[in-house]
Amino acid sequence: MVPMPSTPPPLLRCPLCGAGLNAQGITGDAAVKALVCGSGHSFDAAKQGYFNLLVGKGTVFEADTAEMVAARFAFLDSGHYRPLAEAVAAAVVPGVIPGELFTVLDSGTGTGHYLRVVLDEVSRATDSCAAVALDISKFALRRAARLNPEAINLACDVWQPLPVADAAVDAITVIFAPRNAAEFSRVLRPGGRLVVVTPRAGHLATVAARTGMLSIGDDKDAKLAESLAGYFIAESTLDLDVRMILAPADVADLAFMGPAGHHLDRSALAAKLGTSEVDTEVEARFRITVFRPARLSP
Ligand SMILES: C[S@@+](CC[C@H](N)C(=O)[O-])C[C@H]1O[C@@H](n2cnc3c(N)ncnc32)[C@H](O)[C@@H]1O
Ligand SMILES: [Zn+2]
Repeated sequence: MVPMPSTPPPLLRCPLCGAGLNAQGITGDAAVKALVCGSGHSFDAAKQGYFNLLVGKGTVFEADTAEMVAARFAFLDSGHYRPLAEAVAAAVVPGVIPGELFTVLDSGTGTGHYLRVVLDEVSRATDSCAAVALDISKFALRRAARLNPEAINLACDVWQPLPVADAAVDAITVIFAPRNAAEFSRVLRPGGRLVVVTPRAGHLATVAARTGMLSIGDDKDAKLAESLAGYFIAESTLDLDVRMILAPADVADLAFMGPAGHHLDRSALAAKLGTSEVDTEVEARFRITVFRPARLSP
C-alpha cells in the first residue's frame, strides 16, 4: 500500500491556490511530514498525523466534541456495525482492477472505522492503493489518523472546494455524512463509484425512543436522490438490517455519538436511559446506494 503517489499528477491540490499538493517526507517508511504546493504553501502534519487544510471562514458548524467522538470510537470498535463496514467494502471492491492503483476518498470519515475495513478489502484485490480521508472534526481525525496511518487524513470542510485533484479518485464513500454533489462529481474519475450509506425508517427506533434521538423519516431516499441530482445516478441499492443486543454502555455510546451528544451531557443521558442493567434489542436499518456519475453537469 502506498500513502499517496509522489509522481504527477498529484492526488491533492492546494486549498489556497489550487496547484498540485505534494507530500514531503516520504523516504522509505518515513511518514509524510508536510504537504507542499508549487507556490510554496505548506501544511505540516499535526503530531497526531492529520493535516489541517481548513482555510478561510468555512461553514459555521457545530463539530462533534471529543466525548462524542470517544463514544463513536467505542461503539464502532465493539464491532456491532461490522456488517455495514463489510457491505461498504463489498460495494467498493468491484471497482478495483488488480495490479492498478486504486484511490479511495472517505468523506466525513469520523473515526475511520469504515475506511479501515475498505482498505483491508481493497488491498486484498490490488497491491496499490491510496486513500484520502476528510472530516471537519479534529477530534475525529486524531482517531482516524491512528487507525488508518496509510491514508492522508485531512481536516477540511466538505462544503468548500475539496483539496483533491479533478478526476483523481476511483471511489468515494460517504457514511452518514454530508454530500457535496458538485465536488464529488469533480474529483471522481469517469466510471468511478460513489457509495452512500443512509439510515432507513425505523433505524435504531427502540434506542431513539428512550434517548430523544431524532427518528428517521420515510423521506430520506427522496432527499438523497435530490442532494445528488444532476451529478449522479443510482446504480444499485442494498438494504441491510442489523439486529443488535446492546449492553447499557453500548446504548449510551450509541446515543451519545449522534446528535443527542450535542445537547445532552453524559449524565443527563444516563438519567434518560435509566439505571436498568437489562440489555436492549435494537435494529439498525441501513441503505447502501452505489451511484455513478451522470456527467450531465457542466
Ligand atoms: C454521523 S458522523 C459519521 C462518521 C463516520 N462516517 C461514521 O459513520 O462513523 C458525520 C461525520 O461528518 C463530519 N462532518 C460533518 N460536517 C462536515 C463538513 N462540513 N465537512 C467535513 N466533515 C463533516 C462530522 O465531523 C462527522 O465525523
Ligand atoms: Zn498553494
